[in-house]
Amino acid sequence: MKSFRFPSLIYNKVSVAGGFLALFTVLTMFFFLFVQAGSGGTNPYLGILVYMILPPFLFAGIVLVPIGMLRQWKLAKELGEERRPKWPYIDFNKPTHRNAFILFLAGGIVYACLSTVGAYKTFHHTESVAFCGETCHEVMKPERVAYSNSAHARVPCTACHVGEGANWYARSKLSGAYQVYATALNKYPRPIPTPIKNLRPAQETCEQCHWPDKFFGAQQRQFHHYMYDEDNSHWRTNLLIKTGGGDPKTGQTSGIHWHMNIGVEVEYIARDAKRQDIPWVRVSDRRTGRVTVYQDEESPLTKEEIAAATPRVMDCMDCHNRPSHQFRSPDFFVDRAILTGQISQELPSIKRITVEAVAREYETEEIALRAIARTIVDYYKQNYPDQFSGWRVDIDQAIVAAQYQYTQNIFPEMKVRWGDYVDNIGHFIYPGCMRCHEGKHISEDGWVLTRDCKSCHSILAQGSDDNIQLASTPEGLEFAHPEDIGEEWRETGCYECHTGVQP
Ligand code: HEC
Ligand code: HEC
Ligand code: HEC
Ligand code: HEC
Ligand code: HEC
Ligand code: HEC
Repeated sequence: MKSFRFPSLIYNKVSVAGGFLALFTVLTMFFFLFVQAGSGGTNPYLGILVYMILPPFLFAGIVLVPIGMLRQWKLAKELGEERRPKWPYIDFNKPTHRNAFILFLAGGIVYACLSTVGAYKTFHHTESVAFCGETCHEVMKPERVAYSNSAHARVPCTACHVGEGANWYARSKLSGAYQVYATALNKYPRPIPTPIKNLRPAQETCEQCHWPDKFFGAQQRQFHHYMYDEDNSHWRTNLLIKTGGGDPKTGQTSGIHWHMNIGVEVEYIARDAKRQDIPWVRVSDRRTGRVTVYQDEESPLTKEEIAAATPRVMDCMDCHNRPSHQFRSPDFFVDRAILTGQISQELPSIKRITVEAVAREYETEEIALRAIARTIVDYYKQNYPDQFSGWRVDIDQAIVAAQYQYTQNIFPEMKVRWGDYVDNIGHFIYPGCMRCHEGKHISEDGWVLTRDCKSCHSILAQGSDDNIQLASTPEGLEFAHPEDIGEEWRETGCYECHTGVQP
């Protein structure tokens, strides 16, 4: 062993400590990599530890070795040790120097390999759904759960939130670093505010997968509702929605997707952060050069307000703002549970009582789940004491379904409820299209943004199970409201009465 020695300079406290720190870190990293491989490899915390927390320690350890040597060398010079040369040097004739060099070279190669793999893994890891959705599990739980129930459940979070390119990667990691701090210190707002102020423009995210020039034509959609009466009466609407779209070169730039900046640019100014109050809209037609400004006739902006504001260019997210995180209203999710047979339509007033139970505000999910069960059981015990035991199986099944839907859509710990996250598609429980199309936005020439029911969709069929009307012309049927509210629906928006619970 006598021949295996290092330059004497290395034998100082700092260098030795650095060496041990590096060695210890490498061993720890290998240990956790081993654990991770054994556990199937998806634990987000292990990933953070191995790829983000440990590498700086390894680096510090390695840097400490030469720092220690340099200090030692200076010290020796000050003490006037004559034999020290003026500058440090490497002499391969000395076995100590050879050993140190070989060790450094080997270590350097291993470190370079590790850090390349590490950088790649770090990049990959911080882009994964596990990192985004599970690391901060409490904070991100509502978004993650809704995401897993959406059409985009297999699209990584970062495809919409970060997108391609180093610039946005760095920007997202910077704001991410703040978010980690906010989470660690429990400083984040509940609910998490929406919309996201600096979301990457849709051209660079959504349009990487969805071709904006695609012409959709019209899309048929069925809407099912159950009423709040004793029979839970079924009411259905079959709509042909004029999605449209297309490419100006091949014609067909019509329908709803006309807004998607194909041949025009639509800009707007909103008064509120959630972009629900839109008093000013401007359309610029790129081909004809026509520019039209529409103003809300009831509460227009002043000249100063317009001058001070920066208009937002309308893109996919102004209509599809919840493509991946829809927090459904009790009215919607109870309807869906009845439609799919999870809740029996035969139980009298089950729609009303279930919506009441799930819509109440609770402290925690645990309290909510118990209260939902109690409310439903108590209702049938008190009102139907004779039938109660005969219905028990259906009642229990309804409770399980109501509880499950609750956990997928309402998150009391994060104060997430449907009303805080408006969905801008349609106009049933949120203003949506009616933010501009409620019939009050008028241009200087007297053009009105259409509120005509038939300009956006045709009603192909509507009615209850025993009385369904079918359209006999392409224009479709005149709207019929299930409950007699006279002509009220012509003037009042659906969302002014329908708010996600019993109207
Ligand atoms: C299909 C695209 C898409 C995917 C995939 C996606 N998001 Fe989102 N996310 C959005 C949009 C759009 C918004 C709302 C932006 C707005 O209105 O400004 C949003 C909003 C959010 C918000 C802000 C709060 C809120 O609910 O509005 C959080 C937090 C969030 N997403 C987390 C995630 C996480 C975590 C994942 C992966 C599990 C994910 N997102 C996947 C598109 C997406
Ligand atoms: C990585 C590719 C990808 C990205 C990015 C993406 N989508 Fe999608 N999107 C899909 C796929 C695939 C489907 C079809 C899923 C299915 O039908 O099961 C889909 C379906 C949809 C649908 C119809 C399904 C529904 O919800 O009823 C809409 C609307 C939509 N996307 C809008 C958006 C918007 C808005 C964005 C940007 C915020 C976006 N997408 C980003 C791949 C993507
Ligand atoms: C003036 C208030 C008001 C307006 C405006 C209104 N509704 Fe209703 N709506 C009601 C009431 C009240 C009921 C009866 C609730 C029940 O017993 O189901 C109802 C019931 C319904 C139902 C049966 C299922 C359910 O959720 O109760 C549907 C579907 C419906 N309305 C659709 C619409 C649509 C679409 C519009 C807009 C075009 C609209 N309503 C506008 C008050 C209104
Ligand atoms: C003016 C509002 C609006 C804008 C802007 C808009 N869409 Fe749509 N989009 C709709 C409506 C309404 C539908 C019909 C389906 C529905 O009601 O959910 C639709 C349908 C779709 C569908 C088919 C959904 C299905 O059920 O198969 C896709 C995909 C889609 N949009 C993607 C996009 C993308 C990508 C953008 C941005 C380039 C965009 N949309 C911009 C309103 C809009
Ligand atoms: C920010 C305001 C705004 C919102 C929100 C909005 N629109 Fe529009 N919409 C416009 C403007 C502006 C026009 C065009 C008026 C013109 O041609 O001068 C228009 C025109 C249309 C047209 C007629 C297109 C044609 O072929 O000429 C349809 C259909 C339409 N919108 C559907 C919708 C639907 C559906 C939604 C909701 C998903 C919606 N819009 C939301 C501003 C808006
Ligand atoms: C600016 C375009 C636009 C106008 C004007 C419009 N709608 Fe709609 N409506 C939509 C869109 C888009 C949806 C689909 C929403 C979705 O995909 O969830 C919708 C959905 C509906 C539904 C089904 C809602 C549900 O959840 O059951 C009914 C019913 C309806 N509209 C009736 C009307 C009536 C009645 C009028 C006239 C007073 C009208 N709409 C005017 C765009 C419009």
